[in-house]
Amino acid sequence: MSTISAKDVIVRYGHETILHGVDFLARAGEVTVVAGPNGSGKSTLVKAVSGEVASSGAIAINGRALGAYEGWQLAAQRGVLAQETTVAFPFTAAEIVGLGVTAGATRVARPAELIEMALDRVGLAGFGARRIQTLSGGERQRVQLARVLCQIWEPLSAEGPRWLIMDEPVASLDIRHQIGLMELARDYARAGGGVVAVMHDLNLSAMYGDHVVLMKSGRVAAAGAPEEVLRPDILSAVFACPLHPNRVPDRGVFVLPQSALAQPALALAAE
Ligand SMILES: Nc1ncnc2c1ncn2[C@@H]1O[C@H](COP(=O)(O)OP(=O)(O)OP(=O)(O)O)[C@@H](O)[C@H]1O
Ligand SMILES: [Mg+2]
Repeated sequence: MSTISAKDVIVRYGHETILHGVDFLARAGEVTVVAGPNGSGKSTLVKAVSGEVASSGAIAINGRALGAYEGWQLAAQRGVLAQETTVAFPFTAAEIVGLGVTAGATRVARPAELIEMALDRVGLAGFGARRIQTLSGGERQRVQLARVLCQIWEPLSAEGPRWLIMDEPVASLDIRHQIGLMELARDYARAGGGVVAVMHDLNLSAMYGDHVVLMKSGRVAAAGAPEEVLRPDILSAVFACPLHPNRVPDRGVFVLPQSALAQPALALAAE
C-alpha cells in the first residue's frame, strides 16, 4: 500500500470546521498536486496527512494508520516543507540543513557530506556557512527544502516509499528554480518516493502533476489527472473567475485567465 490515504477527514479549529470530511489519495511514484483558492484548506489538509494537526477520520501512510507511527518513525518516512518557516536564531544554512539529518539518513553519507549534497541539490553549494538571516527569501526556502531532503534522502526505505510533502514550495522561487524544484519532485517520485505539493501555479501543476486535487471551502471539488480536473467549468467554479485551459498537442494543458483572451496583451507576441 504505497499511498497516503485519507478518508472523511474533519479538522476543527475551535468551533470552526475547516475540513468537512475530505477524502484524499496520493500514490508513490506520482506527484500529487493540491490546488485551490486561498483559505480553501490546502495547508490544513497537508498538515493533517503529515500528522501535524489533529483530525478525525482515517489517515494512513503506506497502509499504516498515522497514529500507529512513533514520532521518529514518522520523521523517517515523510518530510514536510511548510508554507512558511521562521528561524528566530542566527543559525547557518548548514546548521538548519543538519536538523534534517536523522539516524537513518547517516546510512547514505556522513552528516557533513549529506548536508553538502542537500545544499548542492537545491543549488546552494557553498552557502553552508552563511547565516540564514543574510539569505534572500528564495534562498531561505531552498535551505529549508535541503533540510527536508536530508530527512528523507532516499525515496525508498524498508518500510516503503518515503514522502516529500511541500506546501507552496515554488512560491518564492524564480522560474529556473521553480522548474528545478518541480523536476526534483518528479525525480523523487519516479525513483519510487511519493510527492504531495500544494501549488497555486496551475501551469506548473499541469506540467508536473500526475494527480491533481482541487479544494474549495474545506472540501475536495475535483480530483484526477490534470486533463480531467483542469477544465474550464471546474476551474472557473472553484476559483470563482473565468479561466480557460488550453491544450498543447502532446504537452498537456495550460490555463489562461479570461482577461488574457479579452485584452490584446497576447498580441505583443505577434509584434
Ligand atoms: N490555526 C488556525 N486557527 C483558526 N483558523 C485557521 C487556522 N489555520 C487556518 N485557519 C483557517 O482555516 C482555513 C483554511 O486555511 P488553510 O491555511 O488550510 O488554507 P490554504 O488553502 O492553505 O490557503 P492559502 O492558499 O492562503 O495558503 C482558512 O479560513 C483559515 O483562516
Ligand atoms: Mg496554505
